[in-house]
Amino acid sequence: MESGIRIIDLRSDTVTRPTLEMRKAMAEAEVGDDVYSEDPTVNRLEEMAAGMLGFEAALFVPTGSMGNQVALAVHTRPGEEVVCDADSHILHYEMAAMAALSGLLPRVLITVGGFPSAGQVSEAIQPDIGYLSRTGLISLENSHNRGGGAVMEIENQREVQEAAHQKGVPVHLDGARIFNAAIALGVDVSEVAAGFDSVMFCLSKGLGAPVGSLLCGSVDLIKEARRIRKRFGGGMRQVGVLAAPGLVALEKMTGRLAEDHLTVRLLAEGLAQQSGIEIPVDPQTNILIFTVGPEWFGEKILEDGDFAGGFVRHLKENGILALALDKNKVRMVAHYDLPEDTVERTLAAVESNK
Ligand SMILES: Cc1ncc(COP(=O)(O)O)c(C=O)c1O
Repeated sequence: MESGIRIIDLRSDTVTRPTLEMRKAMAEAEVGDDVYSEDPTVNRLEEMAAGMLGFEAALFVPTGSMGNQVALAVHTRPGEEVVCDADSHILHYEMAAMAALSGLLPRVLITVGGFPSAGQVSEAIQPDIGYLSRTGLISLENSHNRGGGAVMEIENQREVQEAAHQKGVPVHLDGARIFNAAIALGVDVSEVAAGFDSVMFCLSKGLGAPVGSLLCGSVDLIKEARRIRKRFGGGMRQVGVLAAPGLVALEKMTGRLAEDHLTVRLLAEGLAQQSGIEIPVDPQTNILIFTVGPEWFGEKILEDGDFAGGFVRHLKENGILALALDKNKVRMVAHYDLPEDTVERTLAAVESNK
């Protein structure tokens, strides 16, 4: 099927192609109309996801962004505030959906690594005064994408949950990569999910499914979420064909994520040896963010100062894809769909600029 040297695509864990088992499961999936909750494969996936995370119910949604936005809409009313950190996915990469779709205002916290303290959250919650907007929701992210895959400690989560709940404010988790967080923390995924009023996680990232995320919560919350999913245009019909690879993802793919964490550690160790490259935060999961400075280019002068762009272009010429986040930062993400010699070839390509 493929010829020549295989491209190594480290831009994201969303680039994975479904496994053969997933493709077979898609072909054989039993289906029904999911808007009537009559798709047996979707129902099975929702039950399994809720069970694994320790919730009463779950809802299959096409994307992680929709899962987050449905959660935000369920928990809040227009004109309320959502407390989130300055680097969160819901703030950066969801097209201002909280404002556009739900009339919400982000109250942004500057945090260490993406994780607010209980004190910060408590202070950000508006007092119940007639001339202040209400705080509708606290949203956390674990593991943290722009934080370089960093993991929030369970204790830190608990403290934030308590601080919010004491003031009657619910807490949502953007757990797009919650299984990676669980492995890094050495706990069952249900422990990472515990104490939240809702959790969204993705099947289409490190777990390798072609599409889909789940929003987990109480029976009442998910009943309302189902209505809002339809309002947002996410009511799907014979979608068992897409839930089937999700079942394979939950059954077969969660157990191997530690391999991706190891790949990232090895990449980080090699990159740290290069002059001009710095790794600000030790990687904990499958995401690595590092900075590239002028020293990496040696004698070469980059007029535009776009060191990350120049680095990424050099790698691309050598068959390696990485993502420039800005003029200095580069992101690499490990996943199951990489060749075995990924670390060696990537480090050799980085060194070949000399
Ligand atoms: C932390 C986080 N949350 C949510 C999402 C959204 O997922 P999707 O791309 O399926 O909308 C992503 C996607 O990269 C993510 O990294």
